[in-house]
Amino acid sequence: MSSTLLHCAGLTKTFGGLVALDRFDVEIRRGETIGLVGPNGSGKTTFFNVITGLCDPNAGTIRLDGRDLFGCAPQMIGRAGVARTFQRSRLMLDQSVFDNIAVGALCHCDLGLLTNLFRRARWGRELRETVNRAREIASRFNAAIADRLFQPVSSFPMIDRRRIEICRALIGRPRLLLLDEPSAGMTPDETRELMDDLLAFRSEMPDLAVVLVEHEMDVIRRVSDRCIVLNFGRKVFEGSFDGLIADAEVQAAYLGIGQ
Ligand SMILES: Nc1ncnc2c1ncn2[C@@H]1O[C@H](COP(=O)(O)OP(=O)(O)OP(=O)(O)O)[C@@H](O)[C@H]1O
Ligand SMILES: [Mg+2]
Repeated sequence: MSSTLLHCAGLTKTFGGLVALDRFDVEIRRGETIGLVGPNGSGKTTFFNVITGLCDPNAGTIRLDGRDLFGCAPQMIGRAGVARTFQRSRLMLDQSVFDNIAVGALCHCDLGLLTNLFRRARWGRELRETVNRAREIASRFNAAIADRLFQPVSSFPMIDRRRIEICRALIGRPRLLLLDEPSAGMTPDETRELMDDLLAFRSEMPDLAVVLVEHEMDVIRRVSDRCIVLNFGRKVFEGSFDGLIADAEVQAAYLGIGQ
């Protein structure tokens, strides 16, 4: 079995005259955590949107385990094993923790009319399994979330809401997890706590590949096996964290040094 999980070549996305992603080549291996960094507007979220089918790329290839995902619908990509969180929270605040987490399992369920009408036992079994799995995943992050599975998300603090979003991404047992600035809006202590969670579930899921978009360099240093830097949609660096810090183009583009 090849260790390559995701392979993209020449991935390009334009919005009118703006090139948001410019012939991006990337290979992500099973079990590794990539720190994806770059200045505002450099194409990080666009990369996630293109990979997850939320926007169609103009050119390039996207292969997950050799399977062509170019132009596929988001639910197909979800079924293939790609899950994500969003930079701006996409929680349904007045719905329960369970409802919010279960949404992540929907693309794996058989929700056809026939199942609903004639296979009630199977439907009930799937629902019970989903409740158990939601509770199990939530308890990995914070027992308080698992204990309050049927309370509205609005009653939880920011850090728990971020955890709930990650639980929603994990419930479908993805092979590739894309985290778009999960620590945005959190204090340094909360960020540290969330990254402890990330490292903990990484060690329990050794085959899971993670791409983490993050602006905080300490976080990138702590959790990344490898780093990629985008600038104006173009990859300007790929390598170790130490290499990133020492790279002149990164210093100029991202850290504002030498400009
Ligand atoms: N739907 C869209 N329509 C038009 N332009 C877009 C759209 N989405 C992104 N862009 C543009 O593409 C470029 C890349 O945006 P993107 O959101 O990918 O950046 P980013 O690296 O995630 O930035 P940030 O760190 O601020 O989140 C930006 O110039 C942005 O304005
Ligand atoms: Mg972004």
